[in-house]
Amino acid sequence: MFSLIAAVAKNNCIGANNKIPWNIPEDFQYFKKTTLGKTCLMGKATFESIISYLGKPLPERKTAVITSDKNYQVPEGVRIFSSLDEAFADLAAEDVFVCGGASIYKQTIDRVDILYITEIDTEPAGDTFFPEINKNIWHETWREKHEGFSFIKYSKLSS
Ligand SMILES: NC(=O)c1ccc[n+]([C@@H]2O[C@H](COP(=O)([O-])OP(=O)(O)OC[C@H]3O[C@@H](n4cnc5c(N)ncnc54)[C@H](OP(=O)(O)O)[C@@H]3O)[C@@H](O)[C@H]2O)c1
Repeated sequence: MFSLIAAVAKNNCIGANNKIPWNIPEDFQYFKKTTLGKTCLMGKATFESIISYLGKPLPERKTAVITSDKNYQVPEGVRIFSSLDEAFADLAAEDVFVCGGASIYKQTIDRVDILYITEIDTEPAGDTFFPEINKNIWHETWREKHEGFSFIKYSKLSS
């Protein structure tokens, strides 16, 4: 099963200078709780952003990285895929969360079954943006409001 998880500001911004332009500990906790024990599939820039922040891949999760660089060096246990088709084929039996960044969200939003979106109530300046969530395709199934942000789940209308 493939899901997608992202924190998205009101202007669709998700990043600035390869970082997330807000600090909401409750959202990090939600991300952790939701993805724990699962496979986290991400683009190379997001992987490097995590490494620069944590000094290691996300703990207690299986990390899969998409890059065209066949010689890309990663810590033991991290899997590398050179295309999304290869990743989706190889990971089909796993519980996979697409974890960004912008280029990966854009290429996979039509291939996943569930969206876990944290809607952030700000409009920060940024350089990376989430694609439009087409409400003809996605319907909201759950929402939990917090001060400054909301956790939302979307499922595909056909499923
Ligand atoms: N708010 C959130 O929830 C959230 C979550 C994650 C990330 N982010 C933010 O998003 C930003 C990063 O997004 P981004 O779009 O710049 O980078 P990205 O999607 O994380 O990574 C881009 C890289 O992935 C590889 N790639 C992408 N598509 C590929 C394909 N089809 N085949 C092979 N390789 C592929 C390429 O690496 P090569 O150049 O090596 O080929 C590409 O340069 C950062 O600001 C980060 O903080 C936000």
